[in-house]
Amino acid sequence: MTDLVDLDWENLGFDYMELPYRYRAHYKDGQWHKAGLTEDATIAINEGSPVFHYGQAAFEGLKAYRCKDGSINLFRPDQNAARLQRSCQRLLMPEVPTEMFIGALKQVVKANEAYVPPYGSGGTLYLRPNIIGVGPNIGVHPASEYIFTVFAMPVGNYFKGGLQPTNFLAANYDRAAHKGTGQSKVGGNYAASLLPGAEAKKQGFSDCIYLDPLEHKKIEEVGSANFFGITNDNKFVTPSSPSILPSITKYSLLYLAKERLGMETEETDIYLDDLDHLVEAGACGTAAVISPIGGFQIGDKLHVFYSETKVGPVTKKLYDELTGIQFGDKKAPEGWIVKV
Ligand SMILES: Cc1ncc(COP(=O)(O)O)c(C=O)c1O
Repeated sequence: MTDLVDLDWENLGFDYMELPYRYRAHYKDGQWHKAGLTEDATIAINEGSPVFHYGQAAFEGLKAYRCKDGSINLFRPDQNAARLQRSCQRLLMPEVPTEMFIGALKQVVKANEAYVPPYGSGGTLYLRPNIIGVGPNIGVHPASEYIFTVFAMPVGNYFKGGLQPTNFLAANYDRAAHKGTGQSKVGGNYAASLLPGAEAKKQGFSDCIYLDPLEHKKIEEVGSANFFGITNDNKFVTPSSPSILPSITKYSLLYLAKERLGMETEETDIYLDDLDHLVEAGACGTAAVISPIGGFQIGDKLHVFYSETKVGPVTKKLYDELTGIQFGDKKAPEGWIVKV
């Protein structure tokens, strides 16, 4: 095992850090060229690049986990590859083949191995694959050239509380339209979420929870994570909607709740006026992992699911199961773990 650099591993936040190496590939004339690692953290591109004007940009987020024996796990990277391919289809960008995508992740993790947090610290190496449309252009049409990059940084908790519940605010804005780009992990969705997120944080909330863009009657998702609830008859429920990001963590929890905890599960509508049947609720995602939702502010009413200070028992069990698999302590379902 490579010696680690000297960082305060137990207290990492979720901040950019420039690591020694990143992966870069250039797409031109119908194919990917010049792929490999580089030490250059900057990208110089033409001022007409569609990424600047028309948001032709898609990305992914996943993590590398240090196991007890020092080895390193990737969690379901094939699912991130597939989701990036779907995002690319939506924005008329060339797809990054799964093998190239996973190969790039492995190269970046290996080259920056000294920054993969130690087992037991709670930290992970966050990986950010990113594809942008570049080159001289001015009309609203897709780029003829693209850059695919993967960079990395060690991270800790995304929401301040970790497994401590935090409060969320029902958004007055939409981040994605009903048949828009909510299902794709594309830059524009996040640009649209900056103001609502900032307003929520200014009022002391962790983030906002978006409501269905048609009527604002149902829960959609958190700005950077999906929503789940546990019903009073022990069912795992999570919103079904065309405008939310299909979270890989959420689909993993749907599987684990059913197969490991023996629960019923359902992707369904979760109405604001029917929240009393949820006895626990949380935000789930790669960065958020599982973050319990304590209170949910809807207008002038604060709805508390389980507790504003304690994590619920089912949420905790799901957290232990998921993180146990990610860090290699529990047996993973077939194909979920890829060793670096
Ligand atoms: C808007 C949004 N929803 C949900 C998620 C969670 O998805 P995943 O579990 O694949 O990380 C993310 C983060 O990746 C996100 O940005």
